[in-house]
Amino acid sequence: MTHLHHASHQPTLQYHVFDAVVLGGGGAGLRAALALTEAGHKTAVVSKVFPTRSHTVAAQGGINAALGNITEDNWEWHMYDTIKGSDYLGDQDAIEFMCREASEIVRELEHFGVPFSRLDNGKIYQRAFGGQNLNFGQEQAHRTCAAADRTGHAILHSLYQQNLRAGTRFFDEYYALDLLKDQHGEMGGLMVMNIHDGRYHVLQSGHILMATGGAGQVFRNNTNASINTGDGLGMVLRAGLPLQDMEFWQFHPTGVAGKGMLISEAVRGEGGVLKNSLGEDFMQRYAPHAKDLASRDVVARAIAIEVKEGRGCGPNKDYVLLDLTHLDDATIKARLPGIRDISLTFLGVDPAVAPMPVFPTCHYMMGGIPTDLHGRVISPDKNGAQQIVKGLYAVGECACVSVHGANRLGGNSLLDIVVFGREAAKTISHALHQNSSKKTQQAGSADIELNLDSVLQRIRRWQNPAPSTDTLLAIRKALQHTMETGCGVFRNQDSMQKALQQLVQLQQRLEQVTLSDHSQAFNLERLAAYELENLLAVAFATVHSALNRTESRGAHSRVDYPERDDSEWLKHTLYFNDGHRLDYKPVNLHPKHHAAFAPTERTY
Ligand code: FUM
Repeated sequence: MTHLHHASHQPTLQYHVFDAVVLGGGGAGLRAALALTEAGHKTAVVSKVFPTRSHTVAAQGGINAALGNITEDNWEWHMYDTIKGSDYLGDQDAIEFMCREASEIVRELEHFGVPFSRLDNGKIYQRAFGGQNLNFGQEQAHRTCAAADRTGHAILHSLYQQNLRAGTRFFDEYYALDLLKDQHGEMGGLMVMNIHDGRYHVLQSGHILMATGGAGQVFRNNTNASINTGDGLGMVLRAGLPLQDMEFWQFHPTGVAGKGMLISEAVRGEGGVLKNSLGEDFMQRYAPHAKDLASRDVVARAIAIEVKEGRGCGPNKDYVLLDLTHLDDATIKARLPGIRDISLTFLGVDPAVAPMPVFPTCHYMMGGIPTDLHGRVISPDKNGAQQIVKGLYAVGECACVSVHGANRLGGNSLLDIVVFGREAAKTISHALHQNSSKKTQQAGSADIELNLDSVLQRIRRWQNPAPSTDTLLAIRKALQHTMETGCGVFRNQDSMQKALQQLVQLQQRLEQVTLSDHSQAFNLERLAAYELENLLAVAFATVHSALNRTESRGAHSRVDYPERDDSEWLKHTLYFNDGHRLDYKPVNLHPKHHAAFAPTERTY
């Protein structure tokens, strides 16, 4: 037994052994866990919140699949839109794989019990969403399968219930600190803390699947749950592995003005129109063909420009309006009940009666832990050759496979999590069958000695309460402000250099701050400290990656380098936290079944 050294408590590490451990109880983690448990593997899901509170629950608009329920459609058109939407940075083999799997996986969800909205003929309802067309960029597609505007909620609850039925073991409200290696230097497990009693546990397994979601909390205004603090990303960086394409953050065009909560793209899909203070449908100027349903990066920039040039609305001219008043009340209540609630609650506006004030808000991280399309984490060796990291897998928003490239299409995130969640589980299951000796070890510390010390050191850092004037909350707020002003919708060399200097100062403050709370809330304060370490690591990754990419592509919009530069920058960034080192690797332009789509000018 290993003891942590602290005067007031001497917690003992408790050990548990699993065939596979899934870190994260959102849609990606639950889809993977379901497949693993059903395949007969002893599988644990670790979640820092009760699983149905994971951020997937907040996904509103829908999940893309070329079912063709409203108009003719096919996966090749979906593939083309996704590649174009990614500003050609997405890996075409992975995008092809996802789009080909889409229809079958949506039917699978339907059979799991997801209560999709229906057309009069009983088929799944599909709405119009941004950046999606028929016939390689022609008319608007209706490809986004919806359960009203609560699609993520419906999917998450169905997956959770399927896991309960299958017998997956849940560690609810446990927080994961770090990856552990075994005595051979291979994947050994995870160190986790029970948030309620503060005790630490080691979950031993040779197969760890990261499904920890995004890190939108690095920005002040965001659509993300407060739990989205990049915990998996911090763990991977501390393990010496890279993060990919961290300069690409999606700003959703329509957040609740001044607050950031999501007003779904479904509003525009159902006919909502953006207007400036002159009453103009201004998207006609920025995207004459797709207008309000252009790709998200295009619409977010358009709103930011309207406000910057003085055509914003309200007393401070700092937002635009999203007008749905031409739709009848019954349609709004049937198709957009959640949006109606959000608008009434946070804006005091009934969208059937008055337009909603909106402004871009950080929504999604396109970058993440680099993986191949089977969910295996990859990292370059000393010679630059990409190698599989044995026993480590990643899926969902924390991963970068990369199907979203420089800009994700709405409705492709829910698709990504279920397609690659299922695929990663197949990969792990296959590996477990190949190497059954890894399956059952005896629980105990002997197998896990290599990096336990560094993890224990991190635990001890936050073990002792002591007086301090600075607080974790103050540092977290300063971090969010720094990122929003330095690395937001538009950025440039100066804004990012300044952000970097501020991050260095925040790092110093974090090293000095102590925890103050002696009560039971101490566990939550410790949790906040661990989270802040991860947020800071994500912020450094973002700014370093963004500073070095001297072009504009997708959501990475530099006013000092406004053009896309394929000759120099058609490549993925890899960021390592030792010395903030950067490396690059090529974009995959080799789909298996369809000819590659060569980069061309991107217009909507
Ligand atoms: O606007 C939305 O409903 C968001 C969907 C998505 O990000 O995929």
